[in-house]
Amino acid sequence: MLRFLTAGESHGKALTTIIEGLPAGLPLSAELINRHLSRRMRGYGRGGRMLIETDTAEFLSGVRHGFTMGSPVTLLVRNADNPNWTVIMDEKPVEESVKKITRLRPGHADMAGVIKYGFDDVRPVLERSSARETVTRTAVAAVCRALLDQFGIGVRSHVVRIGPVGIGELDLPADPAQWPWDEVDESPLRCFDKAAEAEMVKTIDGAKERGDSVGGAFEVIAWGMPIGLGSFMHFDRRLDGQIAGAIMSIPAIKGVEIGEGFGVASLFGSQAQDEIRYNRESGWSRVSNRAGGTEGGMTNGQPLVVRAAVKPISTLTRPLTSVDIATKEEAVAHVERADSCQVPAAGVVGEAMVAIVLAQNFLDKFGGDHLDHVRSSYESYVRTYATEK
Ligand SMILES: Cc1cc2nc3c(=O)[nH]c(=O)nc-3n(C[C@H](O)[C@H](O)[C@H](O)COP(=O)(O)O)c2cc1C
Repeated sequence: MLRFLTAGESHGKALTTIIEGLPAGLPLSAELINRHLSRRMRGYGRGGRMLIETDTAEFLSGVRHGFTMGSPVTLLVRNADNPNWTVIMDEKPVEESVKKITRLRPGHADMAGVIKYGFDDVRPVLERSSARETVTRTAVAAVCRALLDQFGIGVRSHVVRIGPVGIGELDLPADPAQWPWDEVDESPLRCFDKAAEAEMVKTIDGAKERGDSVGGAFEVIAWGMPIGLGSFMHFDRRLDGQIAGAIMSIPAIKGVEIGEGFGVASLFGSQAQDEIRYNRESGWSRVSNRAGGTEGGMTNGQPLVVRAAVKPISTLTRPLTSVDIATKEEAVAHVERADSCQVPAAGVVGEAMVAIVLAQNFLDKFGGDHLDHVRSSYESYVRTYATEK
């Protein structure tokens, strides 16, 4: 079983994670992790924090001479902003008086968090509920990607909506492995439709000028999975359920759909399924991919297509009316430095969660103590349904 924990506060010393259950012999490097951390930091609409941080990962355990040893892998990402927060975030009692945050921000964990944990200050809630925690998930996923990559499995994302502006029909190859993913990463909003992207940028600028924020949607696509990751045998082993839960665990995600998703509600049965074909040379195929790559909670050999709705940023430079927990009087919400649009970054985190779930299910099915053992289990299984030529 591949499992992990994350720890760290937004302005604390560092973010850390321990990943347990990786096979030995997997090539890993800090450069690989850093590439994905840097992808999470980009995108038009990010705030000042991203100018301060240059997220880079250090291995503290589990890797020797470029390969995993089978022992837990510990990763550390330092918060470059921490030196500016030493008094506010000191683990020891401090002499100085530290101003409490008491004006609750609607749309954040603030109100329920202070009540639940018995605080008179939002700071400890804000520090851990911040989406900065998704740095660690992105790092874990980079490790998972290294494993998936060994078996030709890729996971990428693109932005499909910013506020009222959605993408048009895309003219891209049928095989998502052939899509120009590196190009989309270099574009301002990680979007394939350049005309729509220009409108999206204007939408973000307009929201920013008004002291507002704007949400949107991203699509994650994964390809190259063998048939049969996940299972219908028990509800919590269903891959679609695991993916939906993993995506919903990202801060600000308010909707998830796989394949046609909510669209199936308005279709008839004959329009909603994907007819099955078999060819002795090319094996199993489908005439469409409305299911988005899963049937019965298992991969069916088609690309996995997951879309998610991202709520606009809750912290507004023109703040909403709220309540001060110290006085219980009406007050404008606290303003913490914030992004005005996080949709491109949320897409990278969405990829991360999909990569983690796929790696977990891959190791559930083919797990072994060394990568070679995983490979031989994978190859012998794939032979059972591979083409006859
Ligand atoms: C990558 C990413 C960056 C985010 N940046 C901010 C931010 O700068 N300011 C903010 O108020 N919310 C930000 N959010 C959203 C909040 O973290 C989120 O809305 C909040 O924790 C409440 O959780 P909920 O919206 O899931 O209920 C971000 C989310 C993601 C995924």
